[in-house]
Amino acid sequence: MTGSARIPTALTIAGVDPSGGAGVLADVKTMSALGAYACAVIAALTAQNTRSVTGVFGVPADFVRQQIDTLFADVRIDAVKIGMVGQAPVIGAVADGLIAWQPAHVVVDPVMIAKSGDALLERAAVGALRERLLPIATLLTPNLPEAGVLLESRAPDTIREMRRAAERLREMLAHTGPRWVYLKGGHLPGGDATDLLFDGDRMLELAAPRIDTRNTHGTGCTLSAALAALLPQSADVPAAARRAKAYLGAAIAAADALAIGHGHGPVHHFHALWPVPMPAA
Ligand SMILES: Nc1ncnc2c1ncn2[C@@H]1O[C@H](COP(=O)(O)OP(=O)(O)OP(=O)(O)O)[C@@H](O)[C@H]1O
Ligand SMILES: [Mg+2]
Repeated sequence: MTGSARIPTALTIAGVDPSGGAGVLADVKTMSALGAYACAVIAALTAQNTRSVTGVFGVPADFVRQQIDTLFADVRIDAVKIGMVGQAPVIGAVADGLIAWQPAHVVVDPVMIAKSGDALLERAAVGALRERLLPIATLLTPNLPEAGVLLESRAPDTIREMRRAAERLREMLAHTGPRWVYLKGGHLPGGDATDLLFDGDRMLELAAPRIDTRNTHGTGCTLSAALAALLPQSADVPAAARRAKAYLGAAIAAADALAIGHGHGPVHHFHALWPVPMPAA
């Protein structure tokens, strides 16, 4: 990391997916695999497996704020990732908390729908997300349908439309200091999984071969958590983004070794740390 040898700390503010493939558990695994000490503030509980979300139980907004204040009062946090927040009052509590504590990096993953197709953000909360979380984001990581919702237009479905969407999303972020849009192209059909990174000036394309697997539960959570873990350890945002994308690609490539559940299984967060299992004799 830059400056000192201290291990960086990263915080996820998100929901719990008991299957461990997405949400807070995936974030903690990702941050741990990437050399950051992980902390977590729970914004919602879900009843969920690799096939569907059967229930969402929101944490009261004032208790979310209490978790944030208690943690920041004691622990130095280098980067924050915001994932599933669920409801407008929770969004308000998170925004107020982070405005008070001013962490250097705030990655906002505007989670709206699970890979299974289930809603993770109340419709009424989209306005709150736009008005309260976009202004505090230093890095916004929508997928293509989320970009469409935020821009009140249809989801981009070509690289050219993605470029235009990245430009328009950047306009929605604060105009003070460096702010980046990382637009994820996982939903675009085609040979490569191509993402765009834009700061209002530079438009960078991050492409990786599309891996043929159904085990892509939590790819978005994993990417934003990797960014939060790597930003304090990287020279700049593009360097962190390239490392996060490479880590995720390797985690997707190794996903089938896990074979968890019967739907969209998780990616392999510890692919670089665990031995490859031997086939049973
Ligand atoms: N099959 C794949 N092979 C390689 N990379 C992929 C694949 N699917 C998605 N990606 C990459 O994974 C990251 C997450 O993209 P995606 O668009 O799937 O996010 P998401 O929809 O938010 O995911 P989630 O449903 O988990 O929230 C991006 O970097 C994308 O390019
Ligand atoms: Mg997502």
